[in-house]
Amino acid sequence: MKGLLEGLAVRTFGLGSAFGSMLFFFSAGASAFFVMTLLNPLRSMVNGEMSELLPPEGTVERWAWDFVSTTVLESKLAPPFPPSKWAAPAGRWLLTQPGRPVELVQRTERKKAAKPGALKDTAKRAEVLHTFLHHELQAAELMAWAILAFPETPEPFRRGLLGILRDELRHMGLYRAHLETLGHPFGSMPIKDWFWERVPGASVTPLQFVARLGVGFEGGNLDHGARFTGFFAAAGDARAAEIQGQITEEEVAHAAFALHWFRNFAGEIEFEKWRVMLPEPISPSMTRGKPINLEARRRAGFPEAFLAALAAWGTQDE
Ligand SMILES: [Fe+2]
Ligand SMILES: [Fe+2]
Repeated sequence: MKGLLEGLAVRTFGLGSAFGSMLFFFSAGASAFFVMTLLNPLRSMVNGEMSELLPPEGTVERWAWDFVSTTVLESKLAPPFPPSKWAAPAGRWLLTQPGRPVELVQRTERKKAAKPGALKDTAKRAEVLHTFLHHELQAAELMAWAILAFPETPEPFRRGLLGILRDELRHMGLYRAHLETLGHPFGSMPIKDWFWERVPGASVTPLQFVARLGVGFEGGNLDHGARFTGFFAAAGDARAAEIQGQITEEEVAHAAFALHWFRNFAGEIEFEKWRVMLPEPISPSMTRGKPINLEARRRAGFPEAFLAALAAWGTQDE
């Protein structure tokens, strides 16, 4: 854990070794921030006083921290039930990277997209399912990240994030069980922390978070999920198709949640307002599939003008 924390601090803030390992802690609702010197993984210095660095034991925030930070595969895939108590007062605990068990090896080379016809091959199908499970894992971790990063947001927002996090854990479990029946358990193939590289950040706002992850990538998942449900069925894997169909259906509520809070934070949902929230070099075309799942997106609450602009994006600009 200490190594992880040191890595986080140095990677995010570029602090030199003269400071030892350091983390920033932002007090909720206060503009001042405190620099905390990490003496050991569990204790820290705040303005000269010994203080707990981590969220208090027994709180949702500590559970979220532990889930993101753990380097134990089983704790990552099937964490314990979250507690009902929230930290009071809520603090800002900023995580910059997830803990990765040794079983999860980062992929360095680019991966070619699987052709639908190739999915009859069990290993190829498992590769796609393995990637999808890792998407779910990153989504779950990023919900936990947001719970810890945005203590100033309304409580229903953070409770909603926790609810979605638990959905994502369930989705992971569905893929995980099927991957095992295919003989390719999670961890048997390399991973890429693509969403971690694009969604969070010390200066990311709650609006940017929902715009990127919920409206952008979870919205896109409605398109991709429907397409792959068909691909898995065509490949003769009825169980994979059933899982994919169920998950895609459940993602409608996740996109709806993001749209609701986008509206709450920034008013009407407009394509241009959303587009400028995407991190470079992500363009709207990277948040849609072919075809766009208009039926599911409409149910999630995407405005018609938004969907038209999303469909048109790149037909002239790219
Ligand atoms: Fe999911
Ligand atoms: Fe989701």
